[in-house]
Amino acid sequence: MSTSTTPTGSRTLTAPAAPQAPTAASDTPGPAVLSALPAPGTGDVEVPRYAPQWLQLREPADAAARAHELLDPLRIRLANRSGRATDVVVHDLGCGTGSMGRWLAPLLDGAQHWILHDRDPYLLHFATVGAPRAAADGSRVTVTTQRGDIGRLTPDALTGASLVTASALLDVLTADEIDTLAAAIVGAGCPALLTLSVVGRVELTPEHPMDKEIGDAFNAHQRRGELLGPDALSAASEAFGRLGASVRVHPSPWRLGAEQAELTEEWLRGWVGAAVEHRPELADRADTYLRDRLAACAAGELRAVIHHSDVLVLPRPTGEA
Ligand SMILES: C[S@@+](CC[C@H](N)C(=O)[O-])C[C@H]1O[C@@H](n2cnc3c(N)ncnc32)[C@H](O)[C@@H]1O
Repeated sequence: MSTSTTPTGSRTLTAPAAPQAPTAASDTPGPAVLSALPAPGTGDVEVPRYAPQWLQLREPADAAARAHELLDPLRIRLANRSGRATDVVVHDLGCGTGSMGRWLAPLLDGAQHWILHDRDPYLLHFATVGAPRAAADGSRVTVTTQRGDIGRLTPDALTGASLVTASALLDVLTADEIDTLAAAIVGAGCPALLTLSVVGRVELTPEHPMDKEIGDAFNAHQRRGELLGPDALSAASEAFGRLGASVRVHPSPWRLGAEQAELTEEWLRGWVGAAVEHRPELADRADTYLRDRLAACAAGELRAVIHHSDVLVLPRPTGEA
């Protein structure tokens, strides 16, 4: 199947046939889940599979939202790293179709090698085809992929890393997975830029009496099982803090208006759908609510702020006293 062009140029992405049947309630708002995918190394355990169409639809809003304020301290840390004569090696965890690399690689100077991690080989294909090619100063950017489960990352997996990145990942992890991730990053002694974690707050204008009820049900859906959902950022900050790393958090909200109507519509469907999945008794009222909200969106009268935060983690470099 084919998709639209990527921000890296006019390349058209073509991927092998994927299972169909989009739209199911999901970890992130939107038509994220294509179907279940057996988790690597877990036998028959199935995990959600993210639709590349959803990841591509959100990519411009993600790029506009990520906190540039965290980039200067990151650049300083990278400029002072040991072995700085060699390529910057970036591990992007839960890369999906590679949106983080397309955003960040052209904002950093110097030759870079990105290692894109995901458990979904279908998304890794998209990430490879749409990989960034050049750094801010024109230096080359190369990419390889690695399929695997981030929840099982060992510090060895990040040996030689100059930087770890992730985007829209923390809130789909469990506390154990976040602890594992924090231990691996701090063990490797490299900085980490972990962007776009939902924080459980949504503002819709004009307001509607059901906004809070839907928002609360959605947040509860995100916390189902052992998933952290909107608690992920504070759990991650605490986990890194316990390991002696310094942590800087900066807001990175999506600000959606008439120009982002397609994204807002898909986000609304996923947001309300997940709320109803968690509280089926809301179904009738939520149906009317969704119809009203979609009509306002189509008329260009709805604005949405979906709050996220980014975090920059600066562990002590390995070997430093
Ligand atoms: C919400 S998507 C975000 C994708 C991408 N970072 C972006 O911003 O467009 C989450 C991604 O993390 C991957 N993922 C989630 N949990 C994972 C795990 N435990 N191991 C490996 N990949 C995982 C999913 O396959 C998916 O591609």
